[in-house]
Amino acid sequence: MICRSSEELNQLVLEAKDCTKFGKVADYIPALKKADPDDLSVAIYHTDGTCLSAGDVQLKITLQSISKVLALALALMDCGEDEVFCKIGYEPTGDPFNSIVKLEISKPSKPLNPMINAGALVVTHMIKGHSVHERFERLLQFVRKLAGNPSISHCEEVAVSEFETAHLNRSLCYFMKQHGIINEDVDNLIYLYTKQCAIEMNCLDLAKIGLVLALDGIDPLTNNRLIPTHIARICKTLMVTCGMYNASGEFAVRVGIPAKSGVSGGIMGAVPNRFGIGIFGAALDEKGNSIAGLKILEMLSKRYDLSMF
Ligand code: DON
Repeated sequence: MICRSSEELNQLVLEAKDCTKFGKVADYIPALKKADPDDLSVAIYHTDGTCLSAGDVQLKITLQSISKVLALALALMDCGEDEVFCKIGYEPTGDPFNSIVKLEISKPSKPLNPMINAGALVVTHMIKGHSVHERFERLLQFVRKLAGNPSISHCEEVAVSEFETAHLNRSLCYFMKQHGIINEDVDNLIYLYTKQCAIEMNCLDLAKIGLVLALDGIDPLTNNRLIPTHIARICKTLMVTCGMYNASGEFAVRVGIPAKSGVSGGIMGAVPNRFGIGIFGAALDEKGNSIAGLKILEMLSKRYDLSMF
């Protein structure tokens, strides 16, 4: 068990808050500019169902890139490992999350991994359903089950704001359509993807999902298996190698746990067999990761020896 008292976690949040002034809220999705850079909340979900938290834990934010892990789990359950990884690679890029450059130079042309935008768009393309609506509902139901919270929904304002400004993601899609990696209407796919990224929740829900991954797909509160073991392991492995983008190597050295960040300032952590972590802190560093979120994880990892390496 770590941080058995909220007092200790509150202290960590206070300490980490100092560095929010060195970060910046994401602004390339206009609706995200409204976030308060000073907000910082954290939750830790233990296997016995107890949850410790600090900061404004009722604050909801959109998942953004954290949703890529959950969409990947569903696409793997829908299509199987061979079909998914025939269209997307397993390798880290060392480039920013929205970079287009490696798409053109990798042969055969396919996104290097499912955590960068190009790969995530292909993953979303593979979620099954008869309509965009049905595909989104299937993903949403899956996320609700993982969090054990049937009221989770998406933020339409953020979804629309991203849909209207997703020129770079559209260009990734057109490139991939030209190369036969995707074959659906680009705006349909961008519509589904922007809704996926706009799924919103608080850090308690996020920590609960991290816990299910930490336990290889089992929900300890119900003992139900929500994700097959091998799929949960694929997700965690890609979180370690690619989850923090071109900061994944440094994060593996300094923190050493599977984690995934998003530009709205969320980080989901899964400490294998021990607990799930959900953090929200909107101020980002230059690589798009929550600056205070990273600080908290680094402090927790050092204090409680969390690194798996
Ligand atoms: O596609 C995008 O650009 C966003 N919806 C998600 C990017 C993101 O969260 C990158 N994370 N650090």
